Amino acid sequence: MTDSIAPEAAPAHPARRDFLYLMTGSVAAVGVAAVAWPFIDQMNPDAATIAAAGPVDIDISQIQPGQRIVTLWASRPVFVVRRPPEALKGLQDPKLTAQLRDPDSDNLQQPEYAKNWHRSIKEEFLVVVGICTHLGCVPLFDPNPDPSNPAPNWPGGFFCPCHGSKYDLSARVFQGVPAPYNLPVPPNFFPDEKTLRVGQNPPGQTFDFNSILQV
Ligand code: FES
Repeated sequence: MTDSIAPEAAPAHPARRDFLYLMTGSVAAVGVAAVAWPFIDQMNPDAATIAAAGPVDIDISQIQPGQRIVTLWASRPVFVVRRPPEALKGLQDPKLTAQLRDPDSDNLQQPEYAKNWHRSIKEEFLVVVGICTHLGCVPLFDPNPDPSNPAPNWPGGFFCPCHGSKYDLSARVFQGVPAPYNLPVPPNFFPDEKTLRVGQNPPGQTFDFNSILQV
């Protein structure tokens, strides 16, 4: 669906963004963690900073189905969402994918090993950098929104209140919103059943986060 990838607001070469606005917490929803975090004053670190950023390990056994946690990697917020089976079911629904700019992740916003409908290694666990691809706000997590709020006809996922961009639960951006691209997927892998490592590729993979189109 390449025709949906060229949005009205998507610049061919997005400029470096200098407008940063960090939201705190998440929209209240059953089973959703509200995670407060500190203000981050540098969310566009240079390549050297990213290269020097060590990986971050997360105990995924502590994340409940339907919950989102936030961690930091390379001075950026990273969302980890444990998606229950009922949430995963809707992600391949043609009625949903027809509304997305890049439903098949054709734009380079993720490593090859996350270029699939769930945009992750394990279907259950989504791992994305939580920075809106429009101007850099941190989107809210809301998997079960009220139909009239905050965005009509949006089935849930991530919502950026700065200018109204909407993403689904695979962090794929909707058409007709200012954000041009899906949220980026950082290098990550699961060294064991209980651990997610953010900032390191699976063995044998060479994805370079600096190669993505837009953070
Ligand atoms: Fe503009 Fe997110 S920063 S919609």
